Amino acid sequence: MSRPEALVGRTAVVTGAASGIGRALARRLSAAGCPVAIADVDEPGLKEASADLTGPVLRQVLDVRDAAAVTAFAQTVSEWAPAPLGAVFNNAGVAIGSSVLGALPADDDWLHEINFRGVVNGVRAFLPALVAQDSGTIVNTSSVYGLIGVPYQSAYCAAKFAVRGFTEALRQELRGTGVRAATVHPGGVKTNIARNARFRADPEGRGRTHEQIAAEFDAIARTTPERAAAIIHKGVDRGKARILVGPDAYLVDALARLAPTRYYDIVASLRRSRR
Ligand SMILES: NC(=O)c1ccc[n+]([C@@H]2O[C@H](COP(=O)([O-])OP(=O)(O)OC[C@H]3O[C@@H](n4cnc5c(N)ncnc54)[C@H](O)[C@@H]3O)[C@@H](O)[C@H]2O)c1
Repeated sequence: MSRPEALVGRTAVVTGAASGIGRALARRLSAAGCPVAIADVDEPGLKEASADLTGPVLRQVLDVRDAAAVTAFAQTVSEWAPAPLGAVFNNAGVAIGSSVLGALPADDDWLHEINFRGVVNGVRAFLPALVAQDSGTIVNTSSVYGLIGVPYQSAYCAAKFAVRGFTEALRQELRGTGVRAATVHPGGVKTNIARNARFRADPEGRGRTHEQIAAEFDAIARTTPERAAAIIHKGVDRGKARILVGPDAYLVDALARLAPTRYYDIVASLRRSRR
């Protein structure tokens, strides 16, 4: 397969662009000369994020759960875009920490609607334009938790495995066209994901507050959002189908292949030794 065109100079769409990886991606791509269409449900955060962008910007307050609104956003982008679409980053996401027994169905539904349905909405809205121009990449954010199952992350793992399955199926459908589909599997990236997560109680029963859980996440997450954005950008430019972000993502990927039923024994002992 030939390589896709480099992203530089082409329009990029980023959801979840008010914070973390999405914000860093928008900043990086804008600095590289891409017009960027950024969307997020967090209006003040989106305003702040657009302040550090240097080139053409389209800013849209958007809830990715709303399929009609995502379709309208795609229409607005196609009318605005000063250059052909280079990539659509379906990046918006949230987290929950809960046991399966303790899970509130409403919380799990909230997560699935954003982390999986939101990605599907983005693909459905933008794919027709990409297919019509016969170029560009759909980039869907999964996680290392889309490679392995982890305790207290059942909803998150299920949604991220779903993103991976959906994207890999789409990639096969796109064979023979100029359009690509890539899945991103970040390891720990120092963002607001744990602070913005829903925790009803410490899922591990250790009595930690939400802030303590977020601080533990910060200590484990080694990759900066800027580094994550650089890896994702390069991965898309190289036409990678699967973009692993951070050394921990490579470790998890290897463990999932080498020890498909025992990987968590190793992950758990690594976690214990880090505490
Ligand atoms: N940080 C990590 O360690 C990590 C690891 C693996 C995967 N991821 C994934 O990376 C993606 C980005 O997360 P992040 O770490 O930058 O987190 P973050 O919390 O810093 O950013 C996520 C952004 O998504 C936005 N968002 C949430 N719900 C939305 C909705 N309904 N519609 C539109 N926007 C919405 C938030 O407002 C926020 O700006 C997510 O899909 C996340 O699951 C993160």
